[in-house]
Amino acid sequence: MIKVGLLGAGRIGKVHAKSIVADSRSQLVAVSDVNEEAARQLAATCGATAKSSQEILADSSIDAVLIATSTDTHSGFIEAAVAAGKAVLCEKPVDLNLERALACQALAAKAGRPVMIGFNRRFDPNFAALKRAFDAGEIGKGELLSVTSFDPSPPPVSYINVSGGLFRDMAIHDFDMACWIFGGAPASVTAIGSSIVDPAIGAAGDVDTAVITLHFADGRIAVIKNSRRAVYGYDQRVELLGATGLLSAGNVLENTVAKITTAGALSAKPEYFFLERYMKAYEAEWRAFVDAVEAGSNYPVTLQDGVNALAVAEAATLSWKTGRTVQLKDGRPVAA
Ligand SMILES: NC(=O)c1ccc[n+]([C@@H]2O[C@H](COP(=O)([O-])OP(=O)(O)OC[C@H]3O[C@@H](n4cnc5c(N)ncnc54)[C@H](O)[C@@H]3O)[C@@H](O)[C@H]2O)c1
Repeated sequence: MIKVGLLGAGRIGKVHAKSIVADSRSQLVAVSDVNEEAARQLAATCGATAKSSQEILADSSIDAVLIATSTDTHSGFIEAAVAAGKAVLCEKPVDLNLERALACQALAAKAGRPVMIGFNRRFDPNFAALKRAFDAGEIGKGELLSVTSFDPSPPPVSYINVSGGLFRDMAIHDFDMACWIFGGAPASVTAIGSSIVDPAIGAAGDVDTAVITLHFADGRIAVIKNSRRAVYGYDQRVELLGATGLLSAGNVLENTVAKITTAGALSAKPEYFFLERYMKAYEAEWRAFVDAVEAGSNYPVTLQDGVNALAVAEAATLSWKTGRTVQLKDGRPVAA
């Protein structure tokens, strides 16, 4: 039985708590949060104890920690957890800053402890099936990847201010999707962005609508489209054109009822947001982490994957700000 400490009892911490409890191979023993009441409430529903993060990290009976705290705390907690000998599953992104993430990666490598990053979309049954079919050679060499990722509505500006911006916070999932499907990081990144959904997002120095093009060294291209607002729900689609065909994974709808009348055809909307759409993915992500902890190897998403996606996010931010294509050299963005 893997004993687990959960850091962070917010939105995503609550989701992960359920997955930890649902897996018979893991036991949630402690929950921490700077909001002690939030930690107490979540711990009480899971048969766990509310403790401080420091107490969790110092507890030698705890094998693994799941870091679901605010983004600016991630690399510090990763470093403390690996130094304490824990296996780590940490939410995305690794950090708000690439250089800080690289320092964290170097420290984790020295400690020799595994760190998995929470790119949950890899565990979505549809995207995972697409990847399996691609890897099995069913459409030949991949040439052009299109990722559509629209949120149903924008977050408050207070969130934008601490999130690192659309590229680091939201598009980072899509950057990982492209790197995962194509197997490695792109050679260059070109991004354009606007704040046409909410001017307050622009005033906060961020964008709410963006198109990012990733160019891989061998010529393959990935196009990522992001918006903070799709009024009909969470729009999450992937399409991959290969030399001998096309693979696509569409939205998961709220139900499968279709109405067809003389006026036309109507189906249900996409599931509302990530808590609905990706619940199965979060559960599968946790099971994959436990598989790797038990095996002592084969962590399916690595700290390197987290660093790669963050490097693309920094390159996209730089490209958007300068209006130029940004190269990635030795894993770092280089302005043209
Ligand atoms: N993979 C996904 O689909 C997904 C979805 C949502 C959020 N996230 C990521 O998860 C993280 C948390 O996001 P959220 O939406 O749950 O935010 P949230 O604000 O709801 O929860 C974060 C919690 O961390 C606590 N916290 C902050 N600093 C802390 C510290 N030093 N020690 C202990 N607790 C601390 C806060 O009090 C809060 O309860 C973010 O990094 C976000 O990018 C990932």
